[in-house]
Amino acid sequence: MLILSLLVAALFLLKTTFGSAQQARTHRRLAASNLLPEWKLQDEERIMEARATEAFPRLQGTKLVTSSIDELVLPSQLAATSEERDAPKGESSFPRSDKEENASHGDAEAAAGSSLLLKPWLLPRISNWDEQRQIWREKHPCEGNCNNYKSSILLVSSSRPSPCDNSHGDHIMLKFMKNKMDYGRLHGIKVFYNMAHLEIDMVDYWSKLPLLRTLMISHPEVEWLWWMDSDAIFTDMTFEVPIAKYSDYNLVLHGWEQLVYEKKSWIGINTGIFLLRNCQWSLDLLESWSVMGASKEAREEGGRLVARALSDRPLFDVDDQSALVYKLVTNGEPWKSKIYMEGSYCLHGYWDSIVDKYEEMMQNSRPGYGDERWPFVTHFVGCKPCAKQGHYNETRCIQQMNRAFNFADNQVLQQYGYKHLELGSVMLEKTNR
Ligand SMILES: *[C@@H]1O[C@H](CO)[C@@H](O)[C@H](O)[C@H]1NC(C)=O
Ligand SMILES: *[C@@H]1O[C@H](CO)[C@@H](O)[C@H](O)[C@H]1NC(C)=O
Repeated sequence: MLILSLLVAALFLLKTTFGSAQQARTHRRLAASNLLPEWKLQDEERIMEARATEAFPRLQGTKLVTSSIDELVLPSQLAATSEERDAPKGESSFPRSDKEENASHGDAEAAAGSSLLLKPWLLPRISNWDEQRQIWREKHPCEGNCNNYKSSILLVSSSRPSPCDNSHGDHIMLKFMKNKMDYGRLHGIKVFYNMAHLEIDMVDYWSKLPLLRTLMISHPEVEWLWWMDSDAIFTDMTFEVPIAKYSDYNLVLHGWEQLVYEKKSWIGINTGIFLLRNCQWSLDLLESWSVMGASKEAREEGGRLVARALSDRPLFDVDDQSALVYKLVTNGEPWKSKIYMEGSYCLHGYWDSIVDKYEEMMQNSRPGYGDERWPFVTHFVGCKPCAKQGHYNETRCIQQMNRAFNFADNQVLQQYGYKHLELGSVMLEKTNR
């Protein structure tokens, strides 16, 4: 109760005094004096409430009913103060207190050879998540994977809170979201679609890391979080991930060990689609992984770091994928041994080599393989459907995204006796049923 009141008081202090250097110093003292306790899964009622509304974890004892993102206060924001913005020019923007330097497993490795230091946005830290989750599960034996493994998977995707920069993007986002909902419904997998930008400094592809962490600690019943980029689409609606195969692993990505460890290639894995186990290891990974993405300066410096360390990475701000490859090739453990690189089916299927073959597949193959014969996922890497400009021919991207949607949609409509006249068409025809 004392801790709870202190937490509320600390939050109040932070919120009301947000913005000046004086208060930043106050916060630094607060943080340094351990007033920010570890987050605990002790208030079951709160958890149930959070689960019921798919809400984000709230601060203990506070009732935050939020209607806008600006009001949304997450535990992590206790630590994400205005310090950075207030830091005088010329001074490093990375907080450098001892406590913060020790805050993560990842800071040492990320900082090796550079001045990168952890910005502690992932506070309050959790160090006994496996125990907390175990206790929770003993109290709620039939939540989650009681019945079958599928109910222990949460499919997570996300797109931006504001409209797309072009006229077609929002329609494509809607179609790709419908596709994920269809897949989830057909396989009894719950879907969490996010449109809130939780951590303002974690931009683009980095934004999924705070989201996954938030969902992980709000859903102790979930065993696997399944991240899928908004520009990826299920194209085999019958294929199921062989989850039992991954029982000894905590992270499953599409990729090839040889490309990562021998060639040190930044495209040896794809971080647009992956499965992440709900456990302490994953919380630690998210914390460590996010170091390079936590600010503009970190991403610039990280970009230089990965361009030097990896064989084929051009120089630009570091992305989450390069950061993970970098982590694996420079200081692999404890991550390496718990990561499964899946190459036996298209957990991520690169669109450019798939999309022209859909008709051929419909002629000669059938759903169920998940591999090149009928790819599980088609991922429109680089098409950037919601942005002003992608890396590829925009006309081709839009055409092919619509075709991929119809290719998948045919597998849904077939149950109702319909299919698309052709993959490029919204028109339907009746099938013989
Ligand atoms: C940080 O870690 C170093 C080395 O492990 C240790 O000597 C130091 O006391 C730690 N500082 C804090 C504040 O925990
Ligand atoms: C872009 O793609 C469309 C459709 O595939 C094609 O007709 C057009 O020639 C392409 N444009 C360029 C510049 O390659």
